Amino acid sequence: MANLFEPMTIGGMAARNRLVRAATAESLCTRDGEPSAPLVECYSQLAAGGVGTIITGFAYFMQEGKAAERSLNACSDEFGAAYRRMVDQVHGRGARIVLQLVYGGSKSKLVAGDPRWLPAASETPCDGTPTADVLGPSAVVNPVTSVVPRPASEADIDAVAAALGRAAARAQRWGFDGVEVHGAHGYLLSQFLSPCFNRRTDSFGGPIENRARALCRCIEAARQATGPDYPVLVKLNSCDDYDDPAGLAGGLSQDDSAAAARLAQQAGASALEVSGDWHRASKEATDGQPYFGAFGARMARELDIPVIVTGGWRSPRIAGAHLAQDGIAAIGLARPLIREPYLADRWQAGSPDDSLCIGCGICGNFAGIPCPSRM
Ligand SMILES: Cc1cc2nc3c(=O)[nH]c(=O)nc-3n(C[C@H](O)[C@H](O)[C@H](O)COP(=O)(O)O)c2cc1C
Repeated sequence: MANLFEPMTIGGMAARNRLVRAATAESLCTRDGEPSAPLVECYSQLAAGGVGTIITGFAYFMQEGKAAERSLNACSDEFGAAYRRMVDQVHGRGARIVLQLVYGGSKSKLVAGDPRWLPAASETPCDGTPTADVLGPSAVVNPVTSVVPRPASEADIDAVAAALGRAAARAQRWGFDGVEVHGAHGYLLSQFLSPCFNRRTDSFGGPIENRARALCRCIEAARQATGPDYPVLVKLNSCDDYDDPAGLAGGLSQDDSAAAARLAQQAGASALEVSGDWHRASKEATDGQPYFGAFGARMARELDIPVIVTGGWRSPRIAGAHLAQDGIAAIGLARPLIREPYLADRWQAGSPDDSLCIGCGICGNFAGIPCPSRM
């Protein structure tokens, strides 16, 4: 498993190993989205536990794009001091830290009219004026929340991209080693990619070149705001349906996801993180095999930028073998590090034992409930 602990580089970021803590919203911020002392402690513990790079839980950069309660607020500089403390703690323990940026859209658990979503008087000023409605590619009901979003105009899309760019510049000033554009898991940019949600007939709908345009505008805005070498990662679904890689159920297919990844690379992305329909995948008995490993290997062959593959890794032996064979740059771990924040150190010390995570999914509740096995 030595190769797990070789250094890696993404854009201008050098990390001590190839283990990445995949974004995991901890629900530990204050109500206004300020990184709290327990959240800073959580990242400090992860860094001390040996992981090379930490991708934060998703941060909203426009108030109306908030995806979950008590998630990170990157809408303004108001919480800059707390973000700097978080970054300093992680750097002091030898790890890198990347801020993930999300616009929730109709999958957000907080929607217009919900007092937890609308900015309270006490809340930090938002970036732009809240539209008081939720943006989507098309007026398609969300099966999870039953919300029907308002189809975004081109001006709306440009406003989202510009706000994301400003948040990326803030992250850079706060000392983050990079940002990640969240284009996966059914949030706004993922919906633009998906024919299920995107029924548009303008230049943002139809062929994948059009469906990827909103994503690419966001990447371009982040790149422009941060300069040529700053790591701008992008997280994409390998496809929308774990059981149907051809996208026959109407979602994003693997071929279209591959095309979107190539367009993201052209738009200036520094690395691709491969994910997908992990809730469905986690029900399968994958036995430590990565959920999206074959697609990750394909992307490593087809792209010139590093590829991180996230989801399902539990065995250091299997992870090491994929790193050696598939040309992928790194493996992303989420639930195993909730279960064992010191997992990387354990593996580096030579323990051959799998992660203790059983993939029960109870931690995925966005309510700050930790791993039941640790309680
Ligand atoms: C509690 C929890 C919160 C998560 N929050 C995020 C998030 O903020 N952003 C994101 O891209 N993925 C998020 N995920 C998904 C993970 O990054 C990862 O894709 C998924 O858990 C599969 O990886 P695993 O098998 O290593 O857990 C979350 C997962 C869990 C369990």
